[in-house]
Amino acid sequence: MAFPDGFLQELKARNDITELVSQYVSLRRRGRNMVGLCPFHGEKTPSFNIYTENGSFYCFGCGVGGDVISFVMKIENLDYVDAVKFLAQRAGMELPENAYDDSMSRLRKRIFEANREAARFFYQSLYQPVGREGLDYFHRRMLTDRTIRHFGLGFADDDWTSLTTYLKSKGFTENELVAANLAVQRRSGSGVYDRFTNRVMFPIIDLRGNVIAFGGRIMTDQKPKYLNTSDTPVFKKSENLFSLNNAKNAGTRTLLLCEGYMDVIAVNQAGFTNAVATLGTALTAEQAMLIKRYADEVVICYDADEAGQKATARAIPILRKAGLLVRVLTIPNGKDPDEFIKSQGADGPEAFRAVIERSGNDIDYRLQKLRADYNLETSDGKVGYLEAAAKVIAPLSSAIEQDVYVTKLCREFEIDKSAFQERLKKLNRQRSREDYRRQQQKIRTDLSGRSDKIDKDKAKIPRSSSAEEALLAYLLQNPDSAAYISGEITPEQFQNSLMRRYYEYFLTRINDGKDAMMNVTADFTADEADKIYQIISKHAGVASTKQSLDETIQVIREESAKPKRSDIGKMSPEELNAYLLNTRKTKK
Ligand code: UTP
Ligand code: MN
Repeated sequence: MAFPDGFLQELKARNDITELVSQYVSLRRRGRNMVGLCPFHGEKTPSFNIYTENGSFYCFGCGVGGDVISFVMKIENLDYVDAVKFLAQRAGMELPENAYDDSMSRLRKRIFEANREAARFFYQSLYQPVGREGLDYFHRRMLTDRTIRHFGLGFADDDWTSLTTYLKSKGFTENELVAANLAVQRRSGSGVYDRFTNRVMFPIIDLRGNVIAFGGRIMTDQKPKYLNTSDTPVFKKSENLFSLNNAKNAGTRTLLLCEGYMDVIAVNQAGFTNAVATLGTALTAEQAMLIKRYADEVVICYDADEAGQKATARAIPILRKAGLLVRVLTIPNGKDPDEFIKSQGADGPEAFRAVIERSGNDIDYRLQKLRADYNLETSDGKVGYLEAAAKVIAPLSSAIEQDVYVTKLCREFEIDKSAFQERLKKLNRQRSREDYRRQQQKIRTDLSGRSDKIDKDKAKIPRSSSAEEALLAYLLQNPDSAAYISGEITPEQFQNSLMRRYYEYFLTRINDGKDAMMNVTADFTADEADKIYQIISKHAGVASTKQSLDETIQVIREESAKPKRSDIGKMSPEELNAYLLNTRKTKK
């Protein structure tokens, strides 16, 4: 079951892809297309293309592609049905009667509901005798009841079935609770038990206010200290941030990036609502892109301990790549923000503000850290330090920014500015040569299909694969030719199994008088759909003539007539000989 084609057609017509995308990405015209910086991966030169004539997009950098619906799915983190609803609402359209409600979208909805009920249950427990321990814990950590309510904190008691029993009484099935990762299947026999017990609970809430997951902290020194919801159909920890729902309304384009739940909450209680944290993993590129949508600058507020400093060094390039300005907070005495604010008593908020204001940018931070590696009293040490410093400064794209550091360093070490600048130039030449090499390497592996995870056949049978791709591209550009093409080539003649599936699918749709591409987003997985858009984009500028079509058909025929590699293995010597003679003949 799906939305009717007519409805989707109107939906797409009334949501112009260029207009929609330009609300998220600044676009400029290039020939017939629009280009911009891809919102799905960090990049400095635009490889994100919009094809206005067929309403699709494709990024040559990260391989993501689709139509308006898949764009909304990805950028707003919605499932298919909700993305269609989003676009319908935007265009002022009514949803058709008995609109599409597939099982995945139903399950996601149930998980949101179960999570919301669970969050309520945990919160209410805090203020009942059973949750006394949890409430005392939060109070001991100086959280006010107002903060507890604002974050919806809670308590999971030490009864292994209290939550599951409660949610089952509310009509949730065991399957739904397991899918939400609120319950775990018993290893022996049947039934489920609570995932979280005897922990204080932190709900994780997305930008639309859905409870998508939980973190639970044990109240003793036992391990693991925090238990988090595993990935579920509504939650991927590498793509979400704790408290972004609060931070995006803080009214500033600067975000404070903390290490954990308690830091974010303590910082909020001190009046800084622009704080977020990753969820027990190192910062990812996806999270940095998410931050970029709401901020221009990030202040890294990690612990001052060694682990925190390592994480800072790793986070800096990820944030920079996403196009964010970066500053690094240095908290005195090896504390984390939570401990620091508390240690200052009533002056906590003011003291924390002062630390933020004093924080230098990432370049200052890295130049400062490097000093510890060299003995600056000796000439060797000075040379070593300046060499390392040049490597930090060289990649800066702004000449003015570079000059600020060069001037400072040259003054401090009493060296000639032009010598230092010469060194920077040389480093940059080296780097652009390496970048170029790396890019070429990437293009080569992409072309050979060696790294293609969805299209597994391509590396093994490159010749038939590219011919079959070309045929599909021609078919999609010229649906009128379907009768001719299907008369020449049957799906069975396709060697690449993914291309064969596409071919069957598109032929059927065209034969049924439908628009070939209209339902691709619903009928294929996201990766498979990306692949289709990749094929179309690759052939977009290439003029396809009847002659090139016939050549393509000829290649597919030749390839399909060849015995499979596995068959060659089974041939007798005589058969093999005959086969080899035959191939030599056709080569001429
Ligand atoms: P920390 O160990 O620094 O915890 O881990 P914290 O936030 O300071 O917590 P308190 O103050 O001891 O209560 C930082 C973050 O790493 C994740 C959590 O998200 C935590 O907030 N973490 C840590 C886990 O996911 N699991 C763990 O076992 C430990
Ligand atoms: Mn802490």
